[in-house]
Amino acid sequence: MSEAVSYEVVSDEAGDIAVISIDNPPVNAASHAVRQGLADATSKFAEGSANVAVLVGKGRTFIAGADIREFGKPMQAPGLGDVIDAIENLDKPVVCAIHGTALGGGLETALSCHYRVAVKSARVGLPEVLLGLLPGAGGTQRLPRLTGIETAAEIITSGRHVPAPEALKLGIIDAVDDGDDPLTAGLTFARRVLSENMPVRRTRELEEKVLAARGNQALFDELRAGVKRKAKGQLSPQLCLEAVIASAELPFAEGLKRERELFMELMASPQREALIHVFFADRQVGKVPELETGTPRPLDRAAVIGGGTMGSGITVSMLFAGMPVTMIERDEESAACGRQNVERILDDGVRRGKFDQAHRDRLANDLYSVSSDISALADADIVIEAAFENMEVKKDLFQQIDQHAKNGAVLASNTSYLNINEIASVTGRPQDVLGLHFFSPAHVMRLLEIVVADRTDPDVAATGFALAKKLKKVGVRAGVCDGFIGNRILERYLSQAAYMVEDGTSPYDIDKAVLSFGYPMGPNQMGDLAGLDIGYANRKRKREEGWEGRYAADYMDRLAELGRHGQKTGRGFYIYEDGSRVGKPDPEVLEIISQVRSEKGITPVALDEETIMRRYMAAMINEGARIVEEGIALRPLDVDITMLYGYGFPRWRGGPLKYADMIGLDKVLADIREFEKDDPVFWKPAQLLVDLVERGENFDSLNKSANR
Ligand code: 3HC
Repeated sequence: MSEAVSYEVVSDEAGDIAVISIDNPPVNAASHAVRQGLADATSKFAEGSANVAVLVGKGRTFIAGADIREFGKPMQAPGLGDVIDAIENLDKPVVCAIHGTALGGGLETALSCHYRVAVKSARVGLPEVLLGLLPGAGGTQRLPRLTGIETAAEIITSGRHVPAPEALKLGIIDAVDDGDDPLTAGLTFARRVLSENMPVRRTRELEEKVLAARGNQALFDELRAGVKRKAKGQLSPQLCLEAVIASAELPFAEGLKRERELFMELMASPQREALIHVFFADRQVGKVPELETGTPRPLDRAAVIGGGTMGSGITVSMLFAGMPVTMIERDEESAACGRQNVERILDDGVRRGKFDQAHRDRLANDLYSVSSDISALADADIVIEAAFENMEVKKDLFQQIDQHAKNGAVLASNTSYLNINEIASVTGRPQDVLGLHFFSPAHVMRLLEIVVADRTDPDVAATGFALAKKLKKVGVRAGVCDGFIGNRILERYLSQAAYMVEDGTSPYDIDKAVLSFGYPMGPNQMGDLAGLDIGYANRKRKREEGWEGRYAADYMDRLAELGRHGQKTGRGFYIYEDGSRVGKPDPEVLEIISQVRSEKGITPVALDEETIMRRYMAAMINEGARIVEEGIALRPLDVDITMLYGYGFPRWRGGPLKYADMIGLDKVLADIREFEKDDPVFWKPAQLLVDLVERGENFDSLNKSANR
């Protein structure tokens, strides 16, 4: 028996009960040792005196799935499918006792047991789809036999965790135990099995629900259409569904074979590699040096300066986390406006059924207050300044905050671009200052860039990460530079998109290419959503400060000057008729662009979809590499997570730097060198990229060495 699985026999009045316990911290993943241990324990039970067995996990959870770290390496026998078959084939019953989570291969193991009991807080699910996979150890064949095709398809294609009480209703488990100890729950159920002489009940033999759907093409087509719509280019939901349909269309053994073929197809796909990178990156991104050296300060009470779009969104995200917030505005009128903004978001939550009126009132009246007196921030543990994006305004506010904030309070500026060192320098406590870059709408968007300035105390940086966790956001550590990680990269690829348009490509073709790459919208659609007047104002300011390099936004300036501000004015790059949020291309826009080109003496050359994306991605990757090289991002994975959570980069492509690794850094560098011939200023290759190619390494090598 491996150390990861133990076997003992408990003698009970009802008879001998075997207890098979899995002990593979932290999540009892079905590693080789666990599979071997389970195979041995199954044989021991088959040959032993016990009449029933309880399968249970030690520590915080039942099996949370196959061991993801083993993927991509040669599989060591026994495979999970073999272990599962051996359990199901036993002719004495096995009761699975679930606590924590039974996920993926964990639930598949549970489905091979003859009965399942769970403690109330347990959750079950088949989340393989989120890793670019499908349940590959019989889950797509056994779950439909318990729930029917439609429910199984919904659970497997979404990957959602099903709470125990719902799992009971759906027929996935047989009982929910009131206690919280899975072993007690398992033993209680096992005694029932003995006393009631309950038979071995094999999931694979329960045919009724799958036969009910056999040949129902209309149902399959409807399911296929729904999954395709939601998948947005991702392969795994579609193959998950095909495997579920196979459970209805084929006998069990053939269905299992089909499941295996589809599983192997996904295992070999780049989407699987990308999504597993994201799984680990999600967990690594919060591991920053300041969390090792620093201790988070309390976060019981907050103050937010400014009640505009950002200030009210930030306030609401803290109210959602149960934090009392005082919002501060410069006068009574602005304070009333700030309150209105917050209440509008809360009312919208009630309208959408996210919470009820009583909860809304509690947040609006008990946790939230507004003041026009800045000294009202005196009792806040954290003060977040979310005023106008202007250095002088922010400096002035930080001087005032410094006068009123209590000792030890964390002082944060919500800024998208500005230098936190400069802001901190006007206070007598730069060690307490950091940047927190929220994304709009701040109560929805999950990304939070935590900007650690030169003198930020590790405790303060650690508090930034504690806040992100409290707000259920993904905190990414960033250093000080213009635009931090995300906006700095955004500026580069938007510039590249503008160059392509000015040089002859239609903005609609750019959007189409970016959309079919997997983004929810293209850069020009995004411009219309954000408002073309905003970019116009920013460019104007930057030009006054001294613009460097090529200016390719004249056509955008012209659209803004014509009052084409995007969705809000019904016209931008697109026309939005009758309040529609889906725009139609407008020949007038192409005319304006063409006019600008001829004024500038440009002979238009239109690029095809593939070239558009090569340029768009190379701009993103080159800047991402520079940001890592300069230490603005700790690791390449921090760049990936930023672009995934803040900028709509398709998750199944893993983030720009993982994408670069997968197409090959030498290819990316060759592209950049080719583009450099025409535009050496824009396309100077990042030194890090050149070095990695020379060393035959990639971004993931840097992730791995940083995380060691
Ligand atoms: N394999 C290997 N490591 C795993 C793992 C797995 N299946 N699941 C979690 N871990 C690791 C994490 O990487 C993390 O490691 P770290 O401490 O070094 O960063 C550690 O376990 C703890 O994980 P979390 O930080 O995520 O802990 P939480 O308590 O927040 O969440 C969880 C626990 C809900 C179980 C979550 O970890 C999770 O969702 N895990 C993945 C579940 C999953 O996708 N299972 C399917 C796997 S594929 C499969 O089973 C194929 C089969 O069909 C053949």
